[in-house]
Amino acid sequence: MARRRQIYEGKAKVLFEGPEPGTLVQYFKDDATAFNNKKKGTITGKGVLNNRISEFLMLRLGEMGIPTHFIRRLNMREQLIRQVEIIPVEVVVRNVAAGSLSQRLGIPEGSALPRSIVEYCYKNDELNDPLVAEEHVTAFGWATPQELDEILSLSLRINDYLSGLFYGTGLRLVDYKLEFGRLWENDQMRIVLADEISPDSCRLWDVETNEKLDKDRFRRDLGSVEEAYQEVARRLGILPESGPNDVPGSETLQ
Ligand code: TMP
Repeated sequence: MARRRQIYEGKAKVLFEGPEPGTLVQYFKDDATAFNNKKKGTITGKGVLNNRISEFLMLRLGEMGIPTHFIRRLNMREQLIRQVEIIPVEVVVRNVAAGSLSQRLGIPEGSALPRSIVEYCYKNDELNDPLVAEEHVTAFGWATPQELDEILSLSLRINDYLSGLFYGTGLRLVDYKLEFGRLWENDQMRIVLADEISPDSCRLWDVETNEKLDKDRFRRDLGSVEEAYQEVARRLGILPESGPNDVPGSETLQ
């Protein structure tokens, strides 16, 4: 089988050249890392589940009028996406105190926040994705003030929609990370949602029991990691037909 040219390999995904100009193939790995690569492991079947979960959420958001990079899923581990210029800012949206916010400010995990909080981190592994202010983003030209306004407005719309969608499945969307990119069409530039939305990039807690059903199970050695990702997919009604066990390796099945 003809191998496609690899464009980029990240911690959880690989990007290949797509079949047409302006497209890429996004391949989801089972590799998991935490604490900026200090902790490494494999979550069997994670790539298959995240491919499906991210497809589902990007499609629903697209129907809501949120522009995304997603075109279509190709197979169990790959999706076709539009090539965008990634804005080097990770947007973290928080509804409930957890993780680094709890650590930084001494707010117990699980405390409801008075309102949703949006944070920006500079996407730079060497620096450990540091938290930055809006001022840094615009002063250093990572995004213009207009782009940042658009990113904030899209992030809040995404938050309203996804919080409701997850709540309907008995999951609380505690916090999550989004990435955006610039997409050019006929000399016009649009900001679109990129990367992925999955239990790798979200904290999702059971509404009744507060059980964690996300990557914190891996980060904190809580066990039943695969099962947690499967449970999220099951609640969204999208467990892959044949289960999460697919062929090993990165061959493309068309
Ligand atoms: P934090 O509490 O560690 O800052 O994480 C906030 C949210 O962002 C959480 O849902 C996990 C997600 N996240 C990522 O997707 N990638 C990252 O590199 C980090 C640090 C967090």
